Amino acid sequence: MKKEAKDFLIVPLDVPLIEEGLVIVEELGNLVSFYKVGLELFTRAGPVIVEILKKREKKVFLDLKLHDIPNTISGAVNAAIDMGVDMLTVHTLGGFEMMEAAQKAVWNKRKDGLVILGVTILTSLDEAFLEDVLGIEKSLNEEVLDLASIAKSAGLGGVVASAEEVSLIKENCGKDFIVTTPGIRPKGTEKNDQKRSNTPFEAVVSGSDYLVVGRPITKAKDMHKAAEAIIKEIGDGLQKTA
Ligand code: C5P
Repeated sequence: MKKEAKDFLIVPLDVPLIEEGLVIVEELGNLVSFYKVGLELFTRAGPVIVEILKKREKKVFLDLKLHDIPNTISGAVNAAIDMGVDMLTVHTLGGFEMMEAAQKAVWNKRKDGLVILGVTILTSLDEAFLEDVLGIEKSLNEEVLDLASIAKSAGLGGVVASAEEVSLIKENCGKDFIVTTPGIRPKGTEKNDQKRSNTPFEAVVSGSDYLVVGRPITKAKDMHKAAEAIIKEIGDGLQKTA
């Protein structure tokens, strides 16, 4: 089935309570079919939030950024598979074996539907930290690219990266390697704490497969209208690349 503009959009439920999350889901109705559940909501609500979203036939991106020894990661991935999660994040800095264990857990259950994405370098870290603490002398971009390549060779389905990094990642890891992009801000909206942001149009043109768009939708006076405008911009981007 051909991916439509609305299928590119993932809305994060960055709220502490299930009820608040469900207000967003209700408001957006059929416009949005993919939601991200992150550490805050999952730590408070637990697997029941995934269950509720799946009952409503929504796709779930469980963004827990797992980072542990391979055996533990394998167990956690199995749990995510059992919950029906569609997309899950692990830290690439957890190493090749950890990523491979995560992906093998998926393959062993023949759950092709669960895509594991690698998180490269958190946007809250900078080159000084990489060099002083981790002893990495490469530039941030080089490190992101290397980590994406390791994720690819461990079998992961893709990575989380900014729109600026997409084309290089695709060049190195292939066009089917999924890139999910946060930090999206339509023109004329608040940047909030996103230092480097891209418009939905730019992200799609650069090749992003999924766009995580939170506050421009969830803090809008009319969430439905805000999401519609973003989907329209995604559509414009798709037309440009067609
Ligand atoms: O509200 P906003 O659109 O900034 O939300 C972006 C979402 O993407 C948040 O859930 C945030 O945690 C996540 N994210 C991000 N930057 C990253 C990785 C994840 O903004 N580098």
